[in-house]
Amino acid sequence: MPTPLERVIFHRAHSDKEYLRVVAADPTLDAITLDFAERSDGVGGMEQVGEVEVVRHYTRLSLLNWDIDRGLYPLGSCTMKHNPRLHERVAADPAYSQAHPSWPAAYLAQHCGIMNELAADLATLSGFDKVCLQPAAGAHGELTAVFMIRAWHLSRGDATRDVFLIPDSAHGTNPASAAMSGFRCVQVKSGPEGTLRVEDIRELLNERLAAIMITNPNTLGIYETQFSDIADAVHKAGGLVYMDGANFNAAMGVFQPGRIGADVMHFNLHKTFTTPHGGGGPGSGPIGFNATLAPFAPDSGKAESIGRVKSWFGQWGMYIRAWVYIRTLGSIGLHEVSEEAVLNANYIRRRLEGVLSMPVKSATLHESVFNDRDLPNKITTLDVAKRLIDYGFHPPTVYFPIHVHGALMIEPTETESLDELDRFCDAMRAVVAEAATDPERLKSAPHTTCVSRVDEVLAARSLDLRWVATERG
Ligand SMILES: Cc1ncc(COP(=O)(O)O)c(C=O)c1O
Repeated sequence: MPTPLERVIFHRAHSDKEYLRVVAADPTLDAITLDFAERSDGVGGMEQVGEVEVVRHYTRLSLLNWDIDRGLYPLGSCTMKHNPRLHERVAADPAYSQAHPSWPAAYLAQHCGIMNELAADLATLSGFDKVCLQPAAGAHGELTAVFMIRAWHLSRGDATRDVFLIPDSAHGTNPASAAMSGFRCVQVKSGPEGTLRVEDIRELLNERLAAIMITNPNTLGIYETQFSDIADAVHKAGGLVYMDGANFNAAMGVFQPGRIGADVMHFNLHKTFTTPHGGGGPGSGPIGFNATLAPFAPDSGKAESIGRVKSWFGQWGMYIRAWVYIRTLGSIGLHEVSEEAVLNANYIRRRLEGVLSMPVKSATLHESVFNDRDLPNKITTLDVAKRLIDYGFHPPTVYFPIHVHGALMIEPTETESLDELDRFCDAMRAVVAEAATDPERLKSAPHTTCVSRVDEVLAARSLDLRWVATERG
């Protein structure tokens, strides 16, 4: 039988009055105390409120936001999909959630086994020789890989290679990772089909080239059909090929980057392998690489290693969820995930083509990019996105990729039902119809939220999350 609590007293800290104290009847158990800072003016200190008020306050606040548990979250490039509850149950098991990396090795044998299996599964899926789990996010994986690429060139006595080729369709983190590591970024333009052309790249190859970074499928959701030819040309010029694998949701069991010429790539466990994300974390961005780069990896144990990039084992909570996902679906299930992600995205594409303009019409995989070119009454992408909120949907990604003017990028993922896809397409079509009949409703949207339009630039640059009470009640 659990030990009953003897008494619960509500007291206040920093005074000789009492504080909240839960005292266990069993004297061997420590008393649990909760401290409340008290200030007489009620500003800056904690208000004294009961549990009911606290729960309701935070629940109300949480409902002001949008989440994948309430409906479609079609943020292109972000792969916001349902996180199966099974993963959460396994990850919450005290054997996993309470484990500490400094435990003796014997206690961690199972955890290490899971990490080894995850790394092996990712290697199999991607066709790379090795996987390092350490990087904490996609961008961190890119940075790690860029360090490895530099170390490889230096190991060959090649210190003059300082250029990274970055396609205009690259994710913004790609040039950031290369530039932060001291490389010069040279942009490559995509062709009219939305893909890279090997002849354009050949013109940029010289003895300064360190590597090319290609997002594949690219940020238009299009497969880079000349990837292998480009990789061959880059290799012949003495460079390496980085593949941004954040869009691997469209590729599982379809193609293996390690077999089409990529030397290294990152995975986004928090996108493809359904570990929860949003609001800045947590994430996990393991990298896969070929044998040539293996000695330079953070965990290679070799003198050439660039050194550890994350403390302890990395984002264990993400590993366990991704491992459960892979192990419950198996290779056939993962392939089906990619097929359905592509099917859902193309269903939306078909229902919205002709309603919204589509700047590049090539076949797309897991996401599609529209824009505001043909909208009447000077209605913009932002207006459409904001009005969609009134219809109960999180807006798609807007104004990205940056090489598409007024981009609206939709990625539904495989976890959405046909009903939900239809509801979304109906809402989109209704919003576009309103653009002609009632443009002011779009210009002033959203109308259903507690704040309407904010100055997003100011909010991003001068973020102030403090709440200051002006008067009580
Ligand atoms: C194509 C692509 N590359 C890189 C990243 C960066 O990943 P992260 O946000 O985990 O740093 C993302 C993120 O969504 C992405 O979509």
